Amino acid sequence: MSKRVAILISGGGTNMAALSDGMVKRNVARPVLVLSNERDARGLERAARRNIPHSVVCHGDYRDRASFEAAVLAELDAARPDIICLAGFMRILSPDFIGRYQGRVLNIHPSLLPRHKGLDTHARALEVGDAEHGCTVHLVTERLDDGPVLGQARIPVRPEDTPESLAARVREQERGLYPAVLDQFARGDRRPVFRTHSDCRVC
Ligand code: GAR
Repeated sequence: MSKRVAILISGGGTNMAALSDGMVKRNVARPVLVLSNERDARGLERAARRNIPHSVVCHGDYRDRASFEAAVLAELDAARPDIICLAGFMRILSPDFIGRYQGRVLNIHPSLLPRHKGLDTHARALEVGDAEHGCTVHLVTERLDDGPVLGQARIPVRPEDTPESLAARVREQERGLYPAVLDQFARGDRRPVFRTHSDCRVC
């Protein structure tokens, strides 16, 4: 039976859209909920256009992280996901939250982890003169931007790159990598997916 997937977003939702479109095409998993912690996240419109149930749990409406997470968990528990994909979800989740869905929460991060955890990854890759950059899909553990790697896509850094140009090329990679990793994960195959520049049809 196809796996139920919940996707957590905070912004544009391009990864969510790629994940959802990939699921429709491959038919191994299906999106059952898109949840945003931001009311005006563009991803909510993208979810609506795809007829995916979507909801908002805005962190600003709650007095602390525990009550915000309890509200998110209530939505998730009602949707009964087998897998949760964090797709540009910009809130740190507590160990208690992660524990509830241990081993079933995936995240995409715009760097070649373990390099450049946290924010501003493209600028930091340029600052230190990295020859390669990219994105990583990993299982979420209690530590930020950590956990077993399920997939990575690499691109070369060009001499003329700016944080913006690098971000744009990494995004292209994200849209291919995350759906491929989710498909494999939903089939129960935990072998990491590695993509290099030579696999890329865009850059
Ligand atoms: C993506 O580039 C994703 O890698 C990044 O946020 C962007 C979301 O874009 N995630 C993180 O930085 C998490 N640490 P999207 O909303 O258009 O998918």
